[in-house]
Amino acid sequence: MLLLLTSGLLVSASTLLAERQQTPPAAVAPESQGLHRLMVNAGKLYFGTAIETNNFNDRPYRAIADNPDEFGMYVPENSQKWEAIQPRQGVFSFDAADSVARLAKTNGQLFRCHTLTWHSQLPPFVQNGTWTRATLTAVLTAHITSVVTHYKSLCYAWDVVNEALAENGTLRASVFSQILGPSFLPLSFSVAGAADPSAKLYYNDFNLETTPAKAAGALRIVQQIQAAAAPIHGIGFQAHFRVGQTPNRTALVTLQNRFVALGLETSFTELDVAHLTLPANATAVARQATDYVGVVQACLDVPRCVGIVVWQFTDKYSWIPNTFPGLGDACLFDRDFKPKPAYTAVASVLAAAATGRPPPPPPQRSGGSRVGMLGGLLWPVVVAGLFVW
Ligand SMILES: *[C@@H]1O[C@H](CO)[C@@H](O)[C@H](O)[C@H]1NC(C)=O
Ligand SMILES: *[C@@H]1O[C@H](CO)[C@@H](O)[C@H](O)[C@H]1NC(C)=O
Ligand SMILES: *[C@@H]1O[C@H](CO)[C@@H](O)[C@H](O)[C@H]1NC(C)=O
Ligand SMILES: *[C@@H]1O[C@H](CO)[C@@H](O)[C@H](O)[C@H]1NC(C)=O
Repeated sequence: MLLLLTSGLLVSASTLLAERQQTPPAAVAPESQGLHRLMVNAGKLYFGTAIETNNFNDRPYRAIADNPDEFGMYVPENSQKWEAIQPRQGVFSFDAADSVARLAKTNGQLFRCHTLTWHSQLPPFVQNGTWTRATLTAVLTAHITSVVTHYKSLCYAWDVVNEALAENGTLRASVFSQILGPSFLPLSFSVAGAADPSAKLYYNDFNLETTPAKAAGALRIVQQIQAAAAPIHGIGFQAHFRVGQTPNRTALVTLQNRFVALGLETSFTELDVAHLTLPANATAVARQATDYVGVVQACLDVPRCVGIVVWQFTDKYSWIPNTFPGLGDACLFDRDFKPKPAYTAVASVLAAAATGRPPPPPPQRSGGSRVGMLGGLLWPVVVAGLFVW
């Protein structure tokens, strides 16, 4: 009872605060029904975004992110990575990723999980451990089992193995490939599948779209996992592109179909299209829109392409400028949350692709669980609201 009263107070305080905002942000861009709703009407499962807890207190950001018509799927950008979720051996830290999962559930959004076996963002105990085949197998098995079990039945999909390939299509040198050889691939998929048989299990990588040797390496990985009778259901094309260098629609369709021929579904899992020169001129802005549209059309063209996730939707929080200094403005919304020409172009293409099926039912908002889910998240808003009063 106390909790319910507290929850009511939290909600009404945040509502009052919202009413006091002078210029409410456009949660859905004008003339758009929202990218996810348009994507579903075009016969796909989702249009989603990466999100992280350190963005949660940004209210204009949340006004867009929490709208399930705009983004129908959340992916935690960092909080399920190994260094974040098992920083020391046997010590798990689920809180941040849990709050992303709970927010997705509250909003009526799908949840996509990222990632289990990856050479980067590893904690020191894994990266610099002294391993034998047996001890690393045990640690990898324990990690995957614990994390997948924790999110069992919540994840539409898991990126089980991420970025295992070098650009030439051979296995990248990593603690996993060096100690275990290629067997870490089927091992990871078998263990993940045993822990959550309902999650779609993906191999996820970048530059498969632009580097034929790497795409060939990914096809070999899929075949190797299948030959070992381990489960694999999807290929994730990260789709980190650059303006003017984005593969065209035809090339992206052909690429997807090579994996569909092996029985997989496909997804563009981390889409962004970075400008090479900032600020971008009008020609580059128009080209960015064309590049985004080609990727969206390539998903629409392939029946087994289930959806698209953008790796953040606003230039304010994109990873690109930090990792590639000088590049940026890669997202669909600018820093002030205004939809860019790329947003409008994507929305138009999706609207034109509507299948004519009746629209899906409105997303479920889970009522009872708001208390546990949102109490912690709204608390800073409440404090701010009292301060405004
Ligand atoms: C592993 O050790 C190297 C060399 O000491 C160090 O540079 C690196 O940061 C360590 N990696 C991790 C993940 O701690
Ligand atoms: C592939 O690339 C890796 C990383 O650059 C390199 O170490 C390896 O020798 C290359 N293999 C072949 C067969 O070219
Ligand atoms: C699309 O890209 C492929 C591969 O780069 C190229 O061969 C083809 O000519 C391009 N098609 C169009 C219509 O530009
Ligand atoms: C616009 O920017 C692009 C990319 O930097 C550049 O190649 C092009 O020359 C620019 N065009 C004009 C008209 O300035």
